[in-house]
Amino acid sequence: MRNSRILGVGHYVPDRVVTNDDLATLMDTSDAWIQQRTGIQRRRYSDDWVGAADMGATAAREALERAGVAAADIDCIVFATLSPDVDMPASACLLQDRLGIGGMPAFDVRNQCSGFLYGLAISDKFIKTGTYDHVLLVGAEVHSTGIDLSTRGREVAVIFGDGAAAVVLGPEADPRRGVLSTHLHADGKFAEKLWLEMPASRARPRLTEELIAGTAARIFPKMEGRYVFRHAVTRFPEVIREALDANGLQPSDISMLIPHQANLRISQMVAMGLELPEEKVFNNIQNYGNTTAASIPLALYEVLEAGRLREGDLLCLAAFGAGFTWASALVRW
Ligand SMILES: CC(C)(COP(=O)(O)OP(=O)(O)OC[C@H]1O[C@@H](n2cnc3c(N)ncnc32)[C@H](O)[C@@H]1OP(=O)(O)O)[C@@H](O)C(=O)NCCC(=O)NCCS
Repeated sequence: MRNSRILGVGHYVPDRVVTNDDLATLMDTSDAWIQQRTGIQRRRYSDDWVGAADMGATAAREALERAGVAAADIDCIVFATLSPDVDMPASACLLQDRLGIGGMPAFDVRNQCSGFLYGLAISDKFIKTGTYDHVLLVGAEVHSTGIDLSTRGREVAVIFGDGAAAVVLGPEADPRRGVLSTHLHADGKFAEKLWLEMPASRARPRLTEELIAGTAARIFPKMEGRYVFRHAVTRFPEVIREALDANGLQPSDISMLIPHQANLRISQMVAMGLELPEEKVFNNIQNYGNTTAASIPLALYEVLEAGRLREGDLLCLAAFGAGFTWASALVRW
């Protein structure tokens, strides 16, 4: 069986920069608190009526150009997001329309912070099995329209930002190169530790006046921060070691680790546990906050721009998030 390989990466971040001081004008928080707990200095917020598919389309165009692949030659579109433009249809279908292409399958993966790696695993399998030659995988999120920007919601609101990134995957004949393996996990008993409860299809009526007025805390994401933190610092190293073991490799073989950008303190603890030096771990949460499904490809874009990944390097990607879900991938660049 052949492997899959990342042929090109693209990105899009909105122009609007929101600093910690900006948030402190809306809620009882401070730059010092946010930086100390999360490392975040600023994040981007999208313009009104710009959705995940709009941002994803810009990222996709750049990824296609860099890959040297025409949009019409894409065989399948996988769109990772927890903030789809609309409840239905999939943002992947809206993206198709933005790109002016159609006919090929297009679907969303709703797996939160692990969404990009779930999408990578699916894309990789389609290519490995010879089903498709070129898969467009997008991660895009608009959080800013769905968070509680008051003191009540501060624990969650300060963490998240908007952004998008995309990769084009194609076939790789050399079994020692490209995506070496992907590892996916989930445990739904932790669903309510980090979730967005309403509006919900199971609720009758689905919408109430209270929800429409925005006075119910339940319409905003809710998180038990410390609980999530504790699980993240366990699951990240576990799933990274699983990937290394599957390939007969050691942490010291990793050239670059891109952890999902959940919290700089989580990334630092993971790096320390694996004894990875600072230069082998990439973080850009300082500038974008947690962009969920977009965070890994957005970081990959910046790693490549900075020339920090060379042919033959071992790239490790890892994620943890709501579900709980967690995942990893090893890529020989
Ligand atoms: C969210 C997180 C930064 C909070 O840090 P923490 O050290 O656990 O802080 P706590 O939740 O214990 O809160 C400590 C205090 O700060 C307050 N606080 C919470 N958010 C605040 C904010 N944005 N600004 C100022 N104070 C805040 C709390 O109300 C609490 O006050 P109290 O002691 O008077 O009750 C941290 O738990 C975390 O990063 N968790 C993981 C989050 C994550 O990665 N989520 C995405 C998963 S992919």
